[in-house]
Amino acid sequence: MKAIIIGATSGIGRELAKLLSDEGYTVGISGRRTALLESLQAELPGECFVSEMDLVDVQQSVEALNELIEKMKGVDLIVINSGTGSIDPDYPLQNDLDTIAVNVTGFTAMANVAYHYFSEQGSGHIVGISSIAGVRGGPIASYNASKAYVSSYLEGLACRVYGQGTSIAITDVRPGFVDTAMAQGEGIFWRAPVEKAASQILDAIKDKKRVVYITKRWRLIAWILKAAPHQLYRKLMS
Ligand SMILES: NC(=O)c1ccc[n+]([C@@H]2O[C@H](COP(=O)([O-])OP(=O)(O)OC[C@H]3O[C@@H](n4cnc5c(N)ncnc54)[C@H](OP(=O)(O)O)[C@@H]3O)[C@@H](O)[C@H]2O)c1
Repeated sequence: MKAIIIGATSGIGRELAKLLSDEGYTVGISGRRTALLESLQAELPGECFVSEMDLVDVQQSVEALNELIEKMKGVDLIVINSGTGSIDPDYPLQNDLDTIAVNVTGFTAMANVAYHYFSEQGSGHIVGISSIAGVRGGPIASYNASKAYVSSYLEGLACRVYGQGTSIAITDVRPGFVDTAMAQGEGIFWRAPVEKAASQILDAIKDKKRVVYITKRWRLIAWILKAAPHQLYRKLMS
């Protein structure tokens, strides 16, 4: 089996690449920090292909993904893990635009290439890393909105492939807090070790789950967040 992890330089993506390689997958790993990709490549037990990719540059990323698929002589699983979000209290416009560029536009470009590739092949599995943040709005407004987009896009793709009768699986992964560079600072609770999060994501991939919360207890938080009336919700979020 062959898997590509988009955003494998650090955190969840890096850990997932290790687990997939341990399971015998040939892996393709991408991101901007090539030195980290090369150190991961040296660590992995199985065959590994490295591809430099900056999702802000859509054309470059699309070309790089297509080239990576060609170099690997095909792929069965594409995990779109790259994501960004900033908690700058000054709330500058540029941070919103950067978040949208990676989490929305970049994500869409990768998912679209994956969809067309697997449609032609007649099978495959697309996994997108969304977030518990996608369940409702939040003070880092563009981050929550971008993850709502990811979840909605994946549900749309799932409807699309069902309508076509193709055997393409679509998985929406919604992590709560995971102990990576992205989840540091105040107000963080139930922060899962990255190894545990990646292991649960691997299980969801094997089971071809449609939607999964990581870790499992975050399903309960999602339920509470969805049910909370706005007056209570804004207090919880502020
Ligand atoms: N940690 C959490 O608590 C948590 C919770 C919910 C959801 N998530 C989601 O999980 C995913 C992984 O995040 P993480 O927690 O593992 O944080 P991380 O260690 O910061 O990983 C982020 C990954 O995204 C890649 N990336 C960022 N900007 C990119 C760009 N312009 N082009 C290509 N790749 C880019 C990074 O690679 P380069 O910097 O090398 O490009 C890195 O591999 C993200 O989508 C995040 O939103 C995380």
